[in-house]
Amino acid sequence: MHVINYSPVSKPFVMTAVIISFIGSSIGALWMLSFFGVSIPVEVMSTFKLHRIFQLDGFVTLIIMGIGYMIIPRMRNEPLQFPKLAQISYFLVLFSILFDFSTQTFFPNSDYAKITLAARLTGVGIFAAMMFLRMKTVPKLLKETDYFITISFSLLIACNVISAFEINRHSLVYTQLWLLFPILMIFGIEYKTLPSFLAFIRPKRKLAMISIALCVTSGAIGLASVITSLPELGVFFNLFALGSAACFAVSVFIYGGFDNSEVLRLISGEKKSRYLLTILHTRVAFGFLFAGLTLGLLYNLNLQYFAVFDLAIHFIAIGFIGITIMLYLPLMLPPITGKSIRFLDFNTVPLILIVSGLSVRVIGDILISALPSNQFSTIFGISGFIVLAGMFSFVIMIHKSMKEIDSEASL
Ligand code: HEM
Repeated sequence: MHVINYSPVSKPFVMTAVIISFIGSSIGALWMLSFFGVSIPVEVMSTFKLHRIFQLDGFVTLIIMGIGYMIIPRMRNEPLQFPKLAQISYFLVLFSILFDFSTQTFFPNSDYAKITLAARLTGVGIFAAMMFLRMKTVPKLLKETDYFITISFSLLIACNVISAFEINRHSLVYTQLWLLFPILMIFGIEYKTLPSFLAFIRPKRKLAMISIALCVTSGAIGLASVITSLPELGVFFNLFALGSAACFAVSVFIYGGFDNSEVLRLISGEKKSRYLLTILHTRVAFGFLFAGLTLGLLYNLNLQYFAVFDLAIHFIAIGFIGITIMLYLPLMLPPITGKSIRFLDFNTVPLILIVSGLSVRVIGDILISALPSNQFSTIFGISGFIVLAGMFSFVIMIHKSMKEIDSEASL
């Protein structure tokens, strides 16, 4: 019988992250609409400041923790030590989000920030410590994955520590530094999986090492930039991050560089569906990553328009991180839910909606940056709802393509 190696520890992380992403994105969608002259009740407007907390501290942190708890022990082929501690880290992060939500909504003038920061830092600290402990066994193959993941977890801790000091929390570089943590976790996982998914080949090691050196430099400059607020450092932060992403993309063959004609000839049905889905999603996602980092670079070179700021964040947050999660989530769900996924039932509607949402956002942002307030049509403010529709259609598609393992095995 087809046996699935369950990862029950990851389940609450992934499920909560998905729910929080819907709430956070709905808040973001209303926030965007408010820039287009639509009047929003004051009570709803007071939730706008929660968008950042829900998306970064909630959605991104919890989903990466869930993925980490599942994937790192698998990469080592050893079980997760101390699963109870993993549960505690979940409750600490969740508590910090709920506490932030209730205090900022019901007691906006109170200052409980230290309690939430301490809870969140302890939660992510437990997570990072458990992951480092598990990664102590040196892998025989593809060690570079560990470097990406180690830098990623270190950045997560660094960003949470910086939050405690209230330095430059709304600067673009600080937000980008925050996003570098999931970006590098994605690089780590893709380095291990993509080349073999694409053509049963190994990634290009030297380029991956250059990518690692560039992202360490970028992370260090980013931290210095947030602490000192020097705009020149923001320029170098983005330049090194762009270099790191470019070397990485070439090292794992995102845009080709290998002969896959044989693979395409040999595979069909379910496998072909998954193969084509992988190529499409990674190419689109990396396109958004390059665009987002280029905009970050331009913003720091003094092109300080709202459109540049907003798209530098959301091309990476929705375009790169969101679309990559859409690709990897179906692969991760079977061990979490105990059900398998049929890729033949997949379609490109969610991807088309996300890309359309971001395209409408580009037009809306340019209008906001170029014209005086309320001079433009509300229709360009609905980008968030198009992205939300994409997220909904993705969840429905996943739900429809889930099959019981037993029936699958008996086929
Ligand atoms: C439907 C999806 C989303 C919509 C409609 C949306 C909308 C918005 C809007 C209107 C703003 C304020 C303008 C600005 O500062 O750019 C904003 C800010 C922001 N968003 Fe989003 N967003 C979405 C998804 C995300 C995601 C997935 C993330 C992170 C993973 C994210 C992270 C942020 C951050 C960090 C800020 C800056 C907040 C600040 O500095 O106070 N957003 N978003």
